[in-house]
Amino acid sequence: SFNLRNRNFLKLLDFQPKEIQYLLDLSRDLKRAKYAGCEQQRMKGKNVALIFEKTSTRTRCAFEVACFDQGANVTYIGGGSQMGHKESVKDTARVLGRFYDGIEFRGFSQDAVEELGAYAGVPVWNGLTDEWHPTQILADFLTMIEHGQGKQLNEIKFAYLGDARNNMGNSLMVGAAKMGMDIRLVAPKAFWPEESLVETCSKIAEETGAKITLTEDVAEGVNGVDFLYTDVWVSMGEAESAWAERIELMKPYQVNMDVIAKTGNKDVKFMHCLPAFHNTETKVGQEIAEKFGMEGLEVNEEVFESAYNISFDEAENRMHTIKAVMVATLGD
Ligand code: CP
Ligand code: NVA
Repeated sequence: SFNLRNRNFLKLLDFQPKEIQYLLDLSRDLKRAKYAGCEQQRMKGKNVALIFEKTSTRTRCAFEVACFDQGANVTYIGGGSQMGHKESVKDTARVLGRFYDGIEFRGFSQDAVEELGAYAGVPVWNGLTDEWHPTQILADFLTMIEHGQGKQLNEIKFAYLGDARNNMGNSLMVGAAKMGMDIRLVAPKAFWPEESLVETCSKIAEETGAKITLTEDVAEGVNGVDFLYTDVWVSMGEAESAWAERIELMKPYQVNMDVIAKTGNKDVKFMHCLPAFHNTETKVGQEIAEKFGMEGLEVNEEVFESAYNISFDEAENRMHTIKAVMVATLGD
């Protein structure tokens, strides 16, 4: 084994494949121990700060429950701290580093979480920025292993449909490249990841045997995959005015039963980092339905409420994997 102690967890590009595999193995072990009622607390008495500039259900609760399970204490810092208004990120980092043993940050700018990581003097974990969502990928890959019928990650094929230029598209591409997977980013060309990132990932893929396909063709992209993955078409922090144009472009990429059929795999599973727009039960969902005449966007209700959907297993795994990141970087 090797040591991730005191490391930041800011983006997957900073980690070697064997380190990512180690975090996945540790997640599996911690999950088993919790289920068996024999989890050992390795963060007793540690204090953890959770900074959220954007809203969250899974990430916040995953960090909190993981801390409680491991014997650590948390402070939730939403809007209302001085950071970014009266005080710079750098100064905030140097203050919180005096109080806390670890800091989670969710917000807009990747530079902010990098700066926190550079100046806090304690491990800093990225709970999502505009650019990356690295803890989500650990949960996704653990879920793929659990539902992959014995396949290793480098034997798994999956398609990501929709906005492939957002934090999820970026992070899944890097994760897949690192772990030697077959990933297809199925999206309108304007929503493919930035070229420089595709180049970086292609170089990684040469070493790991990963296969990266960018395509606008749904049938080609999803053919033979083990997993279909999608995310919201407009992310947190993007202008609401983006919706109309975006929906028009993205419509052909909705995950519905036609897309399931196009995989040619009756055992295919559907994944989503959540929250998902799949019906009109939420206020936002209702507004979208009224404005754009669509009930469900990136996935429809039929798929979401079907046995193909494993996104709630995936959601649970946010907790086990986030716990592993904290235990590995901060635990005794
Ligand atoms: N998947 C995810 O990050 O969910 P939250 O926004 O609820 O944290
Ligand atoms: N791309 C989404 C992910 C949410 C977990 C967003 O940033 O809003």
